[in-house]
Amino acid sequence: MIKAPRGTRDLLPPDTALWNHVEATVRDVFRAYNFQEIRTPIFEDTALFARGVGEETDIVSKEMYTWEDRGRAESDKGQSLTLRPENTAGTVRAYIEHKLWDRGLNKLYYIGPQFRRERPQKGRYRQFYQIGAEVIGPTASGSESPARDAEVLEMLATLLDRLGITNWTLELNSVGTPADRVKFNEALRAALDPVKEKMCTDCQRRAVTNPLRVFDCKVPEDQPIIETLPRITQFLGEDSRQHFEAVQTILRSVGVDFHINDRLVRGLDYYTRTAFEFTHGALGAQNAILGGGRYDGLSEALGGPAAPGIGFAIGEDRLVMSLQERTPAESVLRKPDVYIAPMATMNAEGARLARELRRQNLIVELGDEAFRLKKSFEAASKAGAKYILIVGENEVKAEAFALKNLSSGEQVQVPRAELAQRIKEG
Ligand code: HAM
Repeated sequence: MIKAPRGTRDLLPPDTALWNHVEATVRDVFRAYNFQEIRTPIFEDTALFARGVGEETDIVSKEMYTWEDRGRAESDKGQSLTLRPENTAGTVRAYIEHKLWDRGLNKLYYIGPQFRRERPQKGRYRQFYQIGAEVIGPTASGSESPARDAEVLEMLATLLDRLGITNWTLELNSVGTPADRVKFNEALRAALDPVKEKMCTDCQRRAVTNPLRVFDCKVPEDQPIIETLPRITQFLGEDSRQHFEAVQTILRSVGVDFHINDRLVRGLDYYTRTAFEFTHGALGAQNAILGGGRYDGLSEALGGPAAPGIGFAIGEDRLVMSLQERTPAESVLRKPDVYIAPMATMNAEGARLARELRRQNLIVELGDEAFRLKKSFEAASKAGAKYILIVGENEVKAEAFALKNLSSGEQVQVPRAELAQRIKEG
């Protein structure tokens, strides 16, 4: 038997109803903040992620699905392509490619699959789904203002509240400007130099190439050493410090609780200043329900104009998981309003009636003339229909049908023209 590849899974009904409920709520909330949807390709030029996310990150160095294309056309040959591991780089690429600043499009959101070859476990998949949003804008458009950071964080708090997700913690940090980080990296290198030999091979390499990435290390034996390393907070310049303070002031004013975590550096290289994660208690080891931050230099790194940005991505798989206990999928799924049971030779009439009722926005499950009445009743209850409607020759002639409520057992004769209304009234 062929199974879905490791780390991927089928999302089945009724769970898909919960996914749709989440996505509908997301679209509604994001609209209130005037975000609009963007859909970028699922694969991109590999260089986009190498340059955007960073060569030394785990994502780029270990986890990408990359292949060399082998099209017939000369232009396709040998191009290195990668399934997107995240959607910020693609969004900024599209922002630059279509000069979206000219169209005033600077608040974009996306919903879709991402791919990372990670070790699968609860809440961690190789194909997973992200719901993300990005605010990108030319300098002096307000996109670099701490008001944008606070607005995005407040939007997330609103979304989680609206979905009924409680028990989340907002972990907040500032990772400073690239200039701040030059000093931080120097201090890290100096601190790592005498101890790096005792660390894992990844950390030994990181200590030389990109010391900040040492904080991504998950090897338990390395943690006591990492604990002693300097913190970014000690190296923030005055501008970064003020920006960070201003974000916090607005968050306090709008009543969004947060927790400062000066160990939080995030696993992607593009971050500047504000970095954050929302964690959720019930998720176990993979407890980050979403992550994000500011990326003021990303557009320039990808060959675009200066365009500071801030955004986040929610792990939709994890969001749905944290929702499942309180909101069972069945509670958001609309079951069939009516099951139509055509008697012998009545399939054509049944189809006509089903068409009429579906046009009135009812959910109709249509049976078959080959079914005996008993089988139709069984099928109607299995489908969870509220009513069963019998279509026999006499009913069609009389233009009135027997409509039976499957839970109360009550049965009434209803004229054809009144059927939809009657079913809707429940
Ligand atoms: P990230 O922290 O790599 O950030 O991913 C964001 C979220 O995606 C994580 O918090 C987690 O919920 C979910 N996620 C990541 N990997 C997996 C996985 N293998 N299985 C299930 N869920 C996963 C980014 O991707 C940035 N692009 C976010 C961002 C947007 N920063 C600024 N704008």
